[in-house]
Amino acid sequence: MTLSSGSAQLILDPAHQPEETPVPNLVELTLEPVHCRPELLDACADLINEQWPRSRASRLHSLGQSSDAFPLCLMLLSPRPTSEAAPIVVGHARLSRVLDRPQSLLVETVVVARALRGRGFGRRLMEGLEAFARARGFRRLHLTTHDQLHFYAHLGYRLGEPVQGLVFTSRRLPATLLNAFPRTPFPWSPCKAPSLTAQAAPKVPKGSSLLPPPPLPEPPTTLPPPPAGPPPQSSLETQYQDLRGRPIFWMEKDI
Ligand SMILES: CC(C)(COP(=O)(O)OP(=O)(O)OC[C@H]1O[C@@H](n2cnc3c(N)ncnc32)[C@H](O)[C@@H]1OP(=O)(O)O)[C@@H](O)C(=O)NCCC(=O)NCCS
Repeated sequence: MTLSSGSAQLILDPAHQPEETPVPNLVELTLEPVHCRPELLDACADLINEQWPRSRASRLHSLGQSSDAFPLCLMLLSPRPTSEAAPIVVGHARLSRVLDRPQSLLVETVVVARALRGRGFGRRLMEGLEAFARARGFRRLHLTTHDQLHFYAHLGYRLGEPVQGLVFTSRRLPATLLNAFPRTPFPWSPCKAPSLTAQAAPKVPKGSSLLPPPPLPEPPTTLPPPPAGPPPQSSLETQYQDLRGRPIFWMEKDI
């Protein structure tokens, strides 16, 4: 597949260019919100669509919802290989607030460019987003997976309970709900601050006094409540399914 941004293009499909694919240096990677780098929207959409094909317009629309107020899409970026080229979008993950859990985020659409897997970029992406979330006052991450249970378990995630992610767009929200959002500025400015270098992500000791995340809005009455009761899932079977009926595992990690 071809990732492109502006006039620069990078072919990442190993079937097309196995030898020439430049392998980014782990040390140089940065983690940046998509809405801070709009020139890389196309490349990010291509990266995600390489794994989960969807219309480009739909993917761009979804990425275009990224904001400091969540959902927030993060890109793992490698610096431009040449002065004329665009940075390489190595990976992506989306973070959303969680209903009734103000210190939690839901992690979705975790993906590393196909040609670059198995080289530590997935770990760097997850460790980077954990540092990103923790630096903003969040304490727990939740996610679902069909088939990457062992990857996440290897990174410290455990089986957990289902949660309800607040993945909505402001244009669809009723005014009453919008009014429930905090009007004060967010305590961070990712687009103005220096990029978080995933390699050098600071490990903040637990219990330190960071700013708490902004309060959650009152939930809209149309959202279904999360299933009650303990999670009867093991590493071999799960009772949970996605919207297509495929089995999924719920996992979580304290950060
Ligand atoms: C899942 C994915 C993000 C992992 O990225 P990656 O770059 O291949 O992973 P890494 O090379 O960073 O692996 C990190 C660690 O996890 C381990 N690991 C990777 N996949 C694993 C698996 N399936 N089972 C167990 N361990 C695994 C690696 O051995 C490595 O261990 P180490 O750091 O101790 O040496 C990537 O394979 C991907 O994009 N897959 C397709 C999309 C997808 O399935 N996303 C998850 C949706 S829930």
